[in-house]
Amino acid sequence: ATITVLNGPNLNLLGIREPGLYGNQTLGDIKHTLEQKTAELGHQFNFHQSNAEHEIVELIHEAYQAHVDFIIINPAAFTHTSVAIRDALLATKIPFIEVHLSNVHAREPFRKHSYFSDIAIGVICGLGATGYELALLAAHQILAERH
Ligand code: DQA
Repeated sequence: ATITVLNGPNLNLLGIREPGLYGNQTLGDIKHTLEQKTAELGHQFNFHQSNAEHEIVELIHEAYQAHVDFIIINPAAFTHTSVAIRDALLATKIPFIEVHLSNVHAREPFRKHSYFSDIAIGVICGLGATGYELALLAAHQILAERH
């Protein structure tokens, strides 16, 4: 199967950006680990980051056209704002897991609301980069159950 990992705004700054909240790993480090693990599980892997809402919408449309089976998405700040990205996921019906590095429930109140959680298969937050790996394992299991 094909699994696409999408990352929203400012995640290109991981490693520099508030390491107490987001950890010391760069997005490149996270990509590298996930790429290896996805290959070990026997899946195809795509990985993207964008600071632009419309680009993430278009990446979801492209994933649909490319018959991507599963999305792991950290929408970052768009989590709390983006009806457009929510609608792209609803339109394409690609199953997805929502991931956040930080525990969004232990932070400012505006981070408690997500435009994605109610339509996600599951949500992982507060576990740092490990959250992406757990999402990958879950995706693998979900895809295996469907075949
Ligand atoms: C984040 C949490 C969001 O609230 C924040 O805007 C981010 C990163 C996380 O991974 O913890 O940019 O999605």
